[in-house]
Amino acid sequence: MQLILPPLIRREQIRHKVSELAEKICKDIDVENLCVIVILKGAVFFATDLLRELPPVASIDFIRAESYQGCNSSGKVKMFDNHIPDVKGKKVLLIEDIFDTGLTTQKVVDYLREQSPKDIYLCVLLEKKKYRKGITISSDYVGFYIEDNFVVGYGMDYDGKFRNLPDIHILALDKSID
Ligand code: IMP
Ligand code: MG
Repeated sequence: MQLILPPLIRREQIRHKVSELAEKICKDIDVENLCVIVILKGAVFFATDLLRELPPVASIDFIRAESYQGCNSSGKVKMFDNHIPDVKGKKVLLIEDIFDTGLTTQKVVDYLREQSPKDIYLCVLLEKKKYRKGITISSDYVGFYIEDNFVVGYGMDYDGKFRNLPDIHILALDKSID
């Protein structure tokens, strides 16, 4: 298992993209009345950078969801710590690190929809270019579209490792060891 060098996406590119996304969000949405929900753990670096580029929002909350084992989606999404504020009739911005199979985000969106929010906007840093079976949601804001590789860094991990890397790298797996 090794990090592919050079990085797929460098910190400067991320910084620039985060500012662009913040600008778009401000143009489209009345940020003052926005309830932001961040999906832990992966989106935390992206969210804190993005949120610092926005004017004051109404609230910031966190949902923890997990679906990955190593480099593969387990196909099942676990949600923890769901102390979600009342979003009934409110505009919600959901921030996620990566849109892969879409299962995690779909589960969180379905959960929030039960409360009848006014709108749910989905902002993801990365979206993998792939076919998604049974997924009815799509992202409203995407930082970068990437090929279907496993990536780490800037919040994204492999079994808990590599989250704190400032750049995003493809992780190459040695199948004989894994
Ligand atoms: P999905 O449910 O398949 O869309 O995957 C969403 C979650 O799986 C993300 O929030 C990530 O935490 C994790 N994930 C998906 N792809 C990757 C990847 O390439 N690297 C690291 N984590 C990933
Ligand atoms: Mg995640």
